[in-house]
Amino acid sequence: MTVDYAAPQKTYSNGKISLDKVELPDAHIIHGREFPVAYSLNLHGLDYDTDEVESFLAKLAKDGVFTQLIENNGTFVLRDSIPNSDDSKSQQVASIIKTIESNRGQVPFEQNGTLTLRDKKGFNLYTANKSPPEFRLHQHNEYSRFKKFPNSLIFTILEYTATGGETPLVHGGELYQKILKELPVFLTKLSKVGLKFEDEVWYKEAGEDKKVVWNHEVTFGRYIKPDDDYETQKRKALKLAKEYVSEDSKFVGDQDDLIISSTTYPVKKFKSEPVLFSSIPAFADKYTIDEPKIKFGDGSLFDKDELNKFKSLTVESEYKHNWKSGDIVFVHNYQVSHGKLPYKDGKRSTLVAMWDAKDEERKKQFATFELSSVDAELEKLSLA
Ligand SMILES: [Fe+2]
Repeated sequence: MTVDYAAPQKTYSNGKISLDKVELPDAHIIHGREFPVAYSLNLHGLDYDTDEVESFLAKLAKDGVFTQLIENNGTFVLRDSIPNSDDSKSQQVASIIKTIESNRGQVPFEQNGTLTLRDKKGFNLYTANKSPPEFRLHQHNEYSRFKKFPNSLIFTILEYTATGGETPLVHGGELYQKILKELPVFLTKLSKVGLKFEDEVWYKEAGEDKKVVWNHEVTFGRYIKPDDDYETQKRKALKLAKEYVSEDSKFVGDQDDLIISSTTYPVKKFKSEPVLFSSIPAFADKYTIDEPKIKFGDGSLFDKDELNKFKSLTVESEYKHNWKSGDIVFVHNYQVSHGKLPYKDGKRSTLVAMWDAKDEERKKQFATFELSSVDAELEKLSLA
């Protein structure tokens, strides 16, 4: 099943500046559409003028071009966004991202409950996960285990001289189709009972292996003031946890640690197309029978073989983005998950911006998908 959409044009131009389509050699085709779709900014020999470039991009954003490219193709890559891109250009790139996002009806996403401390590099632009170069981060949709998650995730690398470190992206529609064919019973159960994250802990005080505290600004302390008494601090943190993560949030024990469990429904649809939206592959490595972090929503455990199969089908579905310095990659978080591959030698510092749909109606285009029957769903695929 596909939805109506306008095909991407070869060029978008105002007569002076243009966006010209770039063919990405490893792009996937999903629902008959390229994932991702890429354009390079072409000044046709003119000097780079920030105001002119931004007003050109603002007009396209207002006309709905970027929303179409991001939603229809899952991911839109803007190449050659600034001349001579290097790590000193973060403010300039933040401004381009702001121009595109705000003019297409998006607002900055307020991050609460994050486990990662980020440094600010420009307007709503931050350093991404600072894991060591050799670390591989598996696929996840940002904040998919929370009640509130961003609509778009925008990644950029201003100076890329490393070996490796492509950014792997998976289209949730492609993954859904594979899981439906290969793990139909697993998918049906996941659709019915959901996915449970049990007892995530935000500590009262930091310790050696207790890195995440609940009263930090980026966790649940955003509205805590220095002179708030302790009970007020707890009340404010709990309110934010319930609003952003799960109603099942509580302070436990003498230690006053904040413990949260959440149940989410990873089988979703965007418009009418089913997608998978979860962090299952990122948590699969931590899956032990003694104390699994994730379970089916009814509390039953995953079968390890099925979980490994889910993970390997996810890896198989990855499009690996080969960076060029200055690329800005707009990921539709509802439909596309991301990860990180190891790299060595040279620079590869990723920045990330998170934006949300201002209009609540647009958020409603993304909803839980109830799998009627596997045979009916397979039939739909064969007709598509
Ligand atoms: Fe992430």
